[in-house]
This record gives sequence, C-alpha cells and structure tokens, in this order.
Amino acid sequence: MDAAAPKLVLAPIRGITDCIYRTALQQWFPGFDRAVSPFIQLRRGHSLRPGDVRQLAPENNRVLPVTPQVLTNHAETFTQGLRQLRDLGYAEANWNLGCPSPTVAGRGRGAGLLPHPDRIRAILDAVFSTSTVRLSVKLRLGRHDPSEATAVLAVLNRYPLSEVILHPRTADQLYDGELDIPRTREALSACRHPFVLSGGVSTMEGFTELSKQLPEVSAWMIGRGALSCPSLPARIKGKLSAENGTSREALRGFHDELFAGYSEWLSGPGHLLAKMTEHWVYLSTCFARPKHVFVRIRRSRDPERFRENVEWAFEQPMAPVMR
Ligand SMILES: Cc1cc2nc3c(=O)[nH]c(=O)nc-3n(C[C@H](O)[C@H](O)[C@H](O)COP(=O)(O)O)c2cc1C
Repeated sequence: MDAAAPKLVLAPIRGITDCIYRTALQQWFPGFDRAVSPFIQLRRGHSLRPGDVRQLAPENNRVLPVTPQVLTNHAETFTQGLRQLRDLGYAEANWNLGCPSPTVAGRGRGAGLLPHPDRIRAILDAVFSTSTVRLSVKLRLGRHDPSEATAVLAVLNRYPLSEVILHPRTADQLYDGELDIPRTREALSACRHPFVLSGGVSTMEGFTELSKQLPEVSAWMIGRGALSCPSLPARIKGKLSAENGTSREALRGFHDELFAGYSEWLSGPGHLLAKMTEHWVYLSTCFARPKHVFVRIRRSRDPERFRENVEWAFEQPMAPVMR
C-alpha cells in the first residue's frame, strides 16, 4: 500500500456497516484501511449480547480490521465491556460520544455526555486506572452547542487515547447541515491525539477540497459517501481513475455477496428482504434513476420477486460516477 495515500476508515453506520457488509465491501471494493463498528450498547451487570459477540467474532472479521465501538456512561460497565472485548481478541475499542438519538443522548449517553466534561473525565479516570485496552473516542462538536467540544477535548488530552474522531456537527443537527470547518480547525489544533475527520466526504472533489482545508487530519472516516459510491475509497487512494471507475460487474458481485451473507446470517425471508431493502437505499444511488430503482426493489414481496427486480435493476443505466 502507498504510504503517502490518505488513510481511510469505514464509518460506523448502524444497520448497514455490519460484519457482512464490511467483508463484502472490502472484497469487491478494497480501499479502506480499517473500520469502526456500529455501537454496541453495554448493559450494567450483563455480558455482551450474543448478537454483538457474533458480529465481532474474529472469524467474521478477517478481511477488514475493525475496532469495536461501545456506548455507555457507566465506568464499571465500560471496564467490564472492555474486558470482554479483550477476551474476544480486541486490543482497542472506540467510545461513542456522538450518538444524537433522544433515547441515547437524553439518557446521558453518546452526545448526551458532551455538555458534561466532568463526567467524561470521571469515567475515563476509572477506565484508565483498571483497563489495559487501548481507547479512541468519536465525538461531535456538542449536543446543543458547538463550543462544548473545547472543554471535552481538554479532558481527552489528559489520557493516552489512540485517536480522536470528530463528526463536526452538533447532535441537534443530526446527520445533515453544514459541517463547521472553523471549529474543526480549532479542535484539530487543540487536540494532541491523532485526529480523524468523520463527515463531508461524498465525492472525490469534496475530499480534495476538504483535505486542502484540513491538511493535518491523520485519517478520513467515510460513511454515506462510500455506501452510495463504493468505489470512492479506491478512487481517493488513487487506485481508480475516472476512466476505469466501478464496473457494473463489481457492484453486482458485491450485492450478490451481501445477499448470500444475509441469507445465511438471518432467519427467514422477511428479515432478509428487510435488510436488503435497507442496503438498496444506498445501492440504488449507483444507478442513474435511483428513486425509480429503489421503489421497484422495495416492492419485492418475496425473494423470487426480489431476484427478478435485482436483474431488472442491473439492466438500468448506472449513475455517471459508477460508469
Ligand atoms: C443511519 C446512521 C447510523 C449511524 N450509526 C453510527 C454509530 O453506530 N456510531 C457512530 O459513531 N456513528 C454513527 N453514525 C455517524 C457516522 O459514523 C458518521 O459520523 C456520519 O454519518 C457523518 O459521516 P458521513 O457523512 O461520511 O456519513 C451513523 C450515521 C447514520 C446516518
């Protein structure tokens, strides 16, 4: 791998970037260096859920290295979760301080901790005094107020974190709206850890522009941009040019591998079709008429009809970026 090429991290997108997706993506569209898993919710007094253990089992994550992400605001539960992750083979975990969902942030977890740097400090004190697992943090600029990150970063600077990943929006903004570049610059210069930017990379041109504005970023985390255009990471790495973009065949191979993976992983055609429809929200944007394609796929009532509709979809013109 070219040492000068930007380091790329697949973002956690709950419901989408699970181990089946990560494996199929890396096999058909290599470009990411690593991934962070969607969050697993740690529960007081309980072990990891069997579904989370299955998702993170090393044998299901052989193709793309993954860092498990945890969601908690309770030090003891945190430490216990880290211990279980270490037993699964993980020397590093990522702590979610960004989830904006009212049921999470409203209960003082995820972005709900950002207005409380004192609580973050107390939790990290306890975790670092008892745990040997390496830790990184993914945060937003704030819950309601983008200036909250300043005090949080000052706390994060006190601990030997492996990296800090910033999604430069507030929780109130959810997933859309302007990224706050001036505050990102401030955060970058205030942060003493390797700094990863999450958000805003959805095209090659967008990446080029952002990387000029923020040259000190140590790695780039890409979520929806790669889901909607799986060849984007390879393009950013300089492995694909405009002329030899993603082929229809690679997209088909990727899709069929997802389908085969979920057919084994999930029980029953209902779950399988629901999961594949979730993926088609993004896959359909690879086609010239995404809405038209998605509506037809979503109408599939059974796997047989789904297969027919997939055949039809792959006969449709591709979006320009995919040709
Ligand atoms: C549907 C959805 C689910 C997400 N799930 C997670 C998650 O589990 N953990 C997390 O840290 N971020 C999560 N995110 C945030 C992304 O990781 C990322 O920070 C954000 O989407 C901005 O990056 P993008 O524009 O490249 O997608 C989620 C985003 C979306 C849209």
